[in-house]
Amino acid sequence: MIDTIKQHIAELTDFYTESAEELEVFRIKYMSKKNGIVTNLFNEFRNIPNDQKKEFGQILNQLKALVETKLETLKTKVEDKSAQKPDLDLSLEAYSRPLGTRHPLSIVRNQIIDIFARIGFTISEGPEIEDDWHNFSALNFPEEHPARDMQDTFFVSDKNVLLRTHTSNGQIRVMETQKPPIRIILPGRVFRNEAVSARAHCIFHQIEGLYIDKNVSFADLKQTLMYFAKEFFGEQTKIRLRPSFFPFTEPSAEMDVTCSICQGKGCNVCKHSGWLEILGCGMVDPNVLENCKIDSKKYTGFAFGMGIERITMLKYGINDLRLFFENDLRFLKQF
Ligand code: DAH
Repeated sequence: MIDTIKQHIAELTDFYTESAEELEVFRIKYMSKKNGIVTNLFNEFRNIPNDQKKEFGQILNQLKALVETKLETLKTKVEDKSAQKPDLDLSLEAYSRPLGTRHPLSIVRNQIIDIFARIGFTISEGPEIEDDWHNFSALNFPEEHPARDMQDTFFVSDKNVLLRTHTSNGQIRVMETQKPPIRIILPGRVFRNEAVSARAHCIFHQIEGLYIDKNVSFADLKQTLMYFAKEFFGEQTKIRLRPSFFPFTEPSAEMDVTCSICQGKGCNVCKHSGWLEILGCGMVDPNVLENCKIDSKKYTGFAFGMGIERITMLKYGINDLRLFFENDLRFLKQF
């Protein structure tokens, strides 16, 4: 019997755990009131002959004490472990979340909108799927006129429903529904049936401007565009207007700004001319006003339209239009 107790003591000495479940199994095994080893041994103590009681008692108490200290010390280990258990280290740095960037076309579009908003232009957007009237006829493109060939059109169903080839459709939609004074800019996507290359794409973006009121003159147009050019490209920028043709404006012009890359001295980008063409403009043709039921004897106005891709390429020195549509993160991250 004494040997059995000694054997228990030997086994116990090495017992170690940090698990609450294992420690509970251990407690039950030795100390359970019903069938614990220590409890049973104490029960047997009564049957031990008197002369052996002393030795047996001592060794049994030794076993009991050992079980109790084990229970106590291991309990603190278990508690320490569970204190650490939630995998929570408040001193750890937070995960850094990569910050996205705006697409360069959005950046430039917002800048342009902002510049015109400061002089009282509000935003409107026409539909991308348009009818012939708003994209062509109301803008004074005669039927079968070669001017329609300037814009290779994607037709949707028949010749009457198409993807707009320019944001000028928005001019008509605004003039049909609002009374002058009208001061509006129309940003949006436009579509042309063109082969994709470094300089052309079948989808691109434009911003259109329209100002209709009494006594609006070409001088107002020029002043507005000069303000825009200086705000966008810098105070030193100069502009020039060259005569041009658009069916919906008369007279029409194209505007150049002094090259923002070489400051007008001549470089590759401006083809050594010192000037960059950035937009088309003109006085709204009286026919267009009348098509929208605006009295052309009472009101005049100007309009202009520019390609956002082109201006963005000039601003950032980007030489391939396709980069805007490829969503390559190495490109987009630079803005
Ligand atoms: N719609 C023309 C184009 O896509 C751009 C344009 C030129 C718009 C002159 C205008 C304007 O409003 O007056 O090429």
